Amino acid sequence: MSFVTHLYQYDELPSTNDEAKRLAESGASEGTAILAARQSAGRGRRGREWVSPEGNLYLSLVLRPPRSIQEAASLGFLAQLALSDWLGVLLPAPHLVHHKWPNDLLLNGKKISGLLLESSGNEKIDWLVLGLGFNLRHHPKAALYPATDLFAESGLLIEPEAAANDFITLFKTLYEGWQEKGFTPYSSPWLERASGLGKAIRVNYEKESIEGIFLGIDGKGYLQLELPDGSVQKIGAADIFPVREEKHDAAGH
Ligand code: BTN
Repeated sequence: MSFVTHLYQYDELPSTNDEAKRLAESGASEGTAILAARQSAGRGRRGREWVSPEGNLYLSLVLRPPRSIQEAASLGFLAQLALSDWLGVLLPAPHLVHHKWPNDLLLNGKKISGLLLESSGNEKIDWLVLGLGFNLRHHPKAALYPATDLFAESGLLIEPEAAANDFITLFKTLYEGWQEKGFTPYSSPWLERASGLGKAIRVNYEKESIEGIFLGIDGKGYLQLELPDGSVQKIGAADIFPVREEKHDAAGH
């Protein structure tokens, strides 16, 4: 793992992100990586639980890019690109690999991976923790979005360390390009594999939801949603779901 300067590996941690944040706060360098075989208090986006039995990948990376804090979110899109490149080679067509905004990966329409980005800094990024959960061997049966794992979809058994290694190698190249050129060159490749692009989606916030057409993402990773009145709203944080077209009979019922 050439990018990795320090690797801390555990049988169990409450959360690799918590450990990475603790290390980052005490000065850990870019390239510090935390791997755990299990997590007892794994965290997902928006304060959700990330159930973490042995067999899946739980990885957190400490990054310190000399970039503005507004650009931090784009690293989640880069990580998705690294994962979809990896999965696309492992499981070529007819398997389907999609990015689900903001930071999930779908395999054959089901969630196989999620990312949790946490950062510190005012104008500039002080540290950023990129937390990756990838379902290699297990997936939750009751989840907000239908889930799957690599073994269930393909019969392939991949060890978490091997998956971490492949991910880090692919991510490193994208990360170096991003440091030089920013997110612009990666926006189209991300959109090419975006789930729901150009279609009707429902955007769920904590207490309300809205519907519109998923037009794309901007340079900061905000989702651009076309509302029924034609205006475009930028969405920073939410969950999105496809809106299924209702089937009407000839009488319009
Ligand atoms: C999500 O889809 O809600 C994001 C899930 C992120 C889970 C990973 S597992 C490794 C790291 N440690 C955590 O506690 N969370 C992230």
